[in-house]
Amino acid sequence: MKTNPLKLYRIPRKVVWICTTTSTNDLAKYELLKDPRPWQAFFASEQTKGRGRKGNNWISLKNKGLFLSIVLPDVNKELQNLIPIVTGISVSKAIEDRIKKISNKDINIKLKWPNDIYLNNRKLGGILCETRYHGLINRIICGIGINLTYHPKKIEHINPATDILTETGVVINSGELVNPICNNIWFYLLNLKEKRTDIVTNFLKRDFLYNKYIEVISPVFMDTQNYISKDGIRGIAKGIDKNGALMLESYGIVYRLISGTVSLLKEPKKVLRSSI
Ligand code: BTN
Repeated sequence: MKTNPLKLYRIPRKVVWICTTTSTNDLAKYELLKDPRPWQAFFASEQTKGRGRKGNNWISLKNKGLFLSIVLPDVNKELQNLIPIVTGISVSKAIEDRIKKISNKDINIKLKWPNDIYLNNRKLGGILCETRYHGLINRIICGIGINLTYHPKKIEHINPATDILTETGVVINSGELVNPICNNIWFYLLNLKEKRTDIVTNFLKRDFLYNKYIEVISPVFMDTQNYISKDGIRGIAKGIDKNGALMLESYGIVYRLISGTVSLLKEPKKVLRSSI
């Protein structure tokens, strides 16, 4: 990934490190009241109230993980689903490059739509994007949590977790990842619309769910944005479309989902009947 000459200021514009905070997403929101500019990064050695998706806690022990929040500019509504995708790709690449540099090892980080980061079939980290409404200007606060030298025994009761040290034997310091992650995200967000094909191609190489039989609960369908199916939907994951929606083939129809919670199902059932 080359540095773009159009970069008019240093990315990230500002990096704030704090030893302990409740949650770097909350810290970023608070700091935004004073300075609303995008491309500020906040990272902590420890979080006392780290938050995950769906109201889960994010265990954030001191010096054991990356706890980072980046303030991003808002993007058009149709492109918003690409933000966690772009962040996932950017984080994966930053970690892979760092491991290669330190130990000359090649690892292949996978992404589980929409927000999870996987290594060797185990959850390595996650992304929590939140929007801050700041007058007429909105900001996206993109929170990134990566297990570096510790992982909780179970996340969300189902997903086995892991950390970088366990999988690679390599210790990465969280601060080393901040600039590369910000720069990678910046690269994709500059002319995001034009980069969509590259983003989809890159995601597909990392797609943890591709061709797997899955269930999506609380799915929101692209074509009927307000419609949330109570029963969920089962089918075969078929990658993402150019706006970051999950493509799910069910009973011969490809549905496009813009949000939902995904679980892998063990046995592909014979009938993939849509439950909507
Ligand atoms: C998930 O998989 O549920 C998302 C986890 C996101 C955790 C990160 S750590 C940095 C930022 N601050 C938080 O409180 N949460 C995010």
